[in-house]
Order: sequence, then structure tokens, then C-alpha cells
Amino acid sequence: TQNTYILAIESSCDDTACAILENDRVLSNVVANQKIHEQYGGVVPELASRAHQSNIIPVVDEALKQAQIDKSQLDAIAFTKGPGLMGSLLVGTSFAKSLALSLDIPLLDVHHMHGHILAHFIDDGQEKPSFPFLALTISGGHTQIVRVNSASDLVVLGTTQDDAVGEAFDKSGKILGLGYPAGPQIDRLAQSGDPRAFDFPVPKAPDLNYSFSGFKTAVLYFLQRETKKNESFIKENLEDICASIQYTLIKILFKKLEKAVIQTGIKQVAIGGGVSANSGIRQHLKSMEAKGWKTFIPPFEYTTDNAAMIGIAGYFKFLEKDYAGLDTTASPRIHM
Ligand code: KG4
Ligand code: ZN
Repeated sequence: TQNTYILAIESSCDDTACAILENDRVLSNVVANQKIHEQYGGVVPELASRAHQSNIIPVVDEALKQAQIDKSQLDAIAFTKGPGLMGSLLVGTSFAKSLALSLDIPLLDVHHMHGHILAHFIDDGQEKPSFPFLALTISGGHTQIVRVNSASDLVVLGTTQDDAVGEAFDKSGKILGLGYPAGPQIDRLAQSGDPRAFDFPVPKAPDLNYSFSGFKTAVLYFLQRETKKNESFIKENLEDICASIQYTLIKILFKKLEKAVIQTGIKQVAIGGGVSANSGIRQHLKSMEAKGWKTFIPPFEYTTDNAAMIGIAGYFKFLEKDYAGLDTTASPRIHM
């Protein structure tokens, strides 16, 4: 059988990414991170689309170069259709459509969160989950528990009603004076802190859904109260505060995840999305193997936004001949 070469593009938020896959193997995976947003404490959509515009050609050229592939060898172009920022998605979408049209090869439109989940099927020498399995997708924009029946049948069992868990990390970090995105810094600082030093509430949400907006407010009020008593409270307790924040967020995530495992009887559990890079979450998931879970954690480079995950999701679509028409559009609010 012949090998399939897919060029994939991801531009839904603030990373411009391109990857080349040979079947389920990643030949190159290039990500240009937009540093410009750090000084604003969050992603500025207009600046993001401009940066995508100037990054996309160099990133695609670099991916082709690293993979040692010529454009003429490509079998299909995959891209992120949504969800994400409209201006950002448009850059990747238009680029992918033009490239597919000019090479006269199929176009594959991919849901960003399918990418985060199907990233588990990238050939990295590790054991793969089998269907059905549960996926906890945690990122700056999403917090969902998904039942994955097949590569094309993904059912959302629970979702956040307000903020995503990544926002809870980032917004708490902002209050602490940490730079954006604060998630990785909280992770690092938490490693030398006491997770039980401070108590934060677990917000209520029905069924398998999540809520995080009350958490962020609780952190804000707690810190305002303590800082009034002691001006340097944050500075003196930064590691303990971070460890306690992370501990509570893990508690919130796993309470519903455990409920989902019990309700569905599915004990294979995978995590994906930027926040799954968190070392505390990874450890906690691993520890659930003692309860009979089989757990799957993607390699670090496939957890935060990347195009390899879009490539593997596109590969599944390619095998099904599930091609997109040239009338496909960027869809900022697309559902699973
Ligand atoms: O998937 P992603 O790269 O982009 C979105 O689709 O949102 O996720 C970005 C999020 C940010 O909120 C960032 O703070 C968080 O992932 N993040 C982490 C860690 N690494 C990235 N949060 C906690 N611990 C980490 N180690
Ligand atoms: Zn993402």
C-alpha cells in the first residue's frame, strides 16, 4: 500500500503551526508562538491574525524542509476549521484552500478539539487507546468530557458552563502578577508548594458539567483579603498559593471525570489540550490506574496547540474519503 502525505495547518488562536504526516507518523511539526501577546496579558485577536499572516508561509516552508518533502508529493491538506478566533482561523483556512486548489488535492477540515483528542493516535511507539474511550479535553478555551466512540463519532458528555480550566489557571495567575499564559508558571511554582496550605471552593455544576468562574472570583477575594492584612502575602506565599490553586483545579476536574467513568463504565481515559501539559494533572491521572483505569497522556509536543494533531485527525478523514468542499468556511463557534 502507498503512503499518504498530509500537510496540516493550525491557526485557531495565537500559534501558527504546520506539520507533515506520513500516514500516522509525524515527519515535521513546526510551531511559531506569538510572543506579541505577553505584554497584553492575553491574546489580542487583531494582532494574532496579523502575526498568522506573516508567519504562515515561513512556517509551512520550514515544515516541508524538515520533512524533506516536496509539495508535489502531498496527498491532502488538513486545516483547523474551528472553533477559535475568526481572524486567526481565516488565515489558515484561506491558505489551506488555496494550497489544495493549486495542487489539486483533497481538503480536510478538522475540528480543533477532535485534533486534541485524536493526537493520541499519532504513532509515537506508545500504546493507543481503543474505542470507546473517554477524553478530558482541557485548554484555554475548552473543558469537556467526551465519549469517543470512533474517530468520527465523538459525543460531549459534559462541558464548562463558563470559563475553561485554562482560563482559571491564567486568570488566577494574572491576579498573582504572573505573566501570560500563567498555567505553566503555576505548574512550576506549585511543585515546591503545599497543596493544602489554602482552601478554595469547588464550584457547583450539574451532571458532568463544569464551572470555573466562581473559582477565579474566590481566588481574587481571598487574595484581596489577605493582602489587606499583610501587604506581601502573595510574595511570601506564592508557591503555596499556586499549589493550592492547582490542587483545587485538579479536584474539580477529577470529581466529574470519575463520575463519567462510573456512569459510562468506560475505564480508558485520555487527556488532551494545553492544560494536559500540567504535571499535577498528569500525576493524578496516572494515580487513577490504581482504581483500574487505563490512562493515556499525549507526548508534551502534542498537548499544546500544534498542527500534527490536525494532521492525524485529517488522516482519519482522508481514510474515510470525508473531504471538505472549497466552500468550507472558518467557523469560530462550531460544535463537536
Ligand atoms: O490547547 P492550548 O495550547 O490552546 C487552546 O486551545 O486554548 O491551551 C492553552 C492553555 C493556557 O491556558 C495555558 O495556561 C495552559 O494551556 N497550560 C497549562 C500548562 N501548559 C499550558 N496550564 C497548566 N499547567 C501547564 N503546565
Ligand atoms: Zn487547543
